Amino acid sequence: MGTKRHFRVWRGDSSGGEIQDFDVEVNDGEVVLDIIHRLQATQTPDLACRWNCKAGKCGSCSMEINGKPRLGCMTRMSTFEEDETVTITPLRTFPIIRDLVTDVSFNYEKARETPAFAPPPGVAPGDYRMQQVDVERSQEFRKCIECYLCQNTCHVVRDHEENKAAFSGPRYFIRAAELDMHPLDDRGDRKQYAQAHQGLGYCNITKCCTEVCPEHIKITDNAIIPMKERVVDRRYDPLVWLGRKIFRRDELEPATSMAPSTSTGVTDVASGTTQFSTARMPEGPPVREDGKMDVSEVSLPTQGGPSPFGDDLSFPLTPGEVTYHRPADKADSGSDPYAH
Ligand code: SF4
Ligand code: SF4
Ligand code: FES
Repeated sequence: MGTKRHFRVWRGDSSGGEIQDFDVEVNDGEVVLDIIHRLQATQTPDLACRWNCKAGKCGSCSMEINGKPRLGCMTRMSTFEEDETVTITPLRTFPIIRDLVTDVSFNYEKARETPAFAPPPGVAPGDYRMQQVDVERSQEFRKCIECYLCQNTCHVVRDHEENKAAFSGPRYFIRAAELDMHPLDDRGDRKQYAQAHQGLGYCNITKCCTEVCPEHIKITDNAIIPMKERVVDRRYDPLVWLGRKIFRRDELEPATSMAPSTSTGVTDVASGTTQFSTARMPEGPPVREDGKMDVSEVSLPTQGGPSPFGDDLSFPLTPGEVTYHRPADKADSGSDPYAH
């Protein structure tokens, strides 16, 4: 037996829009995407929403639900209190196309800028041989479903449109880390490249990206921080410091073209002709004489501008609020057949 619940859904396009109110029937076991489908079937046939698998695997149904970036198909209605109003807005970081559909091509551009995998000379596609142990760490990053919730959440671009040219975002930091750990990638130093060309230095390790990842990829701990640590290690290594005094810069700095030693089986990025952003990259945070960074560098308060959708929603929230509330967290979970 269904119950009527109150929903607020942003409707509009690139020229503007507004939050509209709806009362919709909700049944046991339903997710937010079900409610959007019911709205389309009963009250708003032209409500635009992207979806595909309804199984948390295609990454299409990304939206903000009560201000939190989530997959509509993986957010159970039992997450909310019976009398709670559920507000659904589009991803905030990308331009609106219509209603809940945004233009995520920023991410495709960043994917195109990321140098592709390149095997060593003489190793053709089909001849790749590696052991499970070689890919144990990087395999986690292959779980990415490209929902772009992490890209949408990162305050570096969420609150600062001007950073988009220089910042690839957490989804492409895990790509860089994955290829950096790949036993057959012959492209060059991926972490140095991430620092110089992908804006790794903008990231102040707030972990918001990790908090919203529906695949529970430890983006910050397992990809970003290891790359940052090794970039800093190299930069402040006393031997490297001495080398800088003795050798010319071009004898020390890694190549920036990322051209591999062969172009077999790779994209045209291998030719080194791909244009990368020339926007100014930030300096890394200062490292003290004792080799540590100031705590404030790693614990800056998470920034979050007011919602552009006319609601009183603010984001990012504290990690405790962002993490999905399991039905079992609720006091009445005993009556919830989906509690676990
Ligand atoms: S840790 Fe924070 S600043 Fe860094 S990529 Fe993730 S969301 Fe962005
Ligand atoms: S890393 Fe996680 S949040 Fe980011 S695009 Fe991939 S699956 Fe989505
Ligand atoms: S519809 Fe595919 S992840 Fe939600």
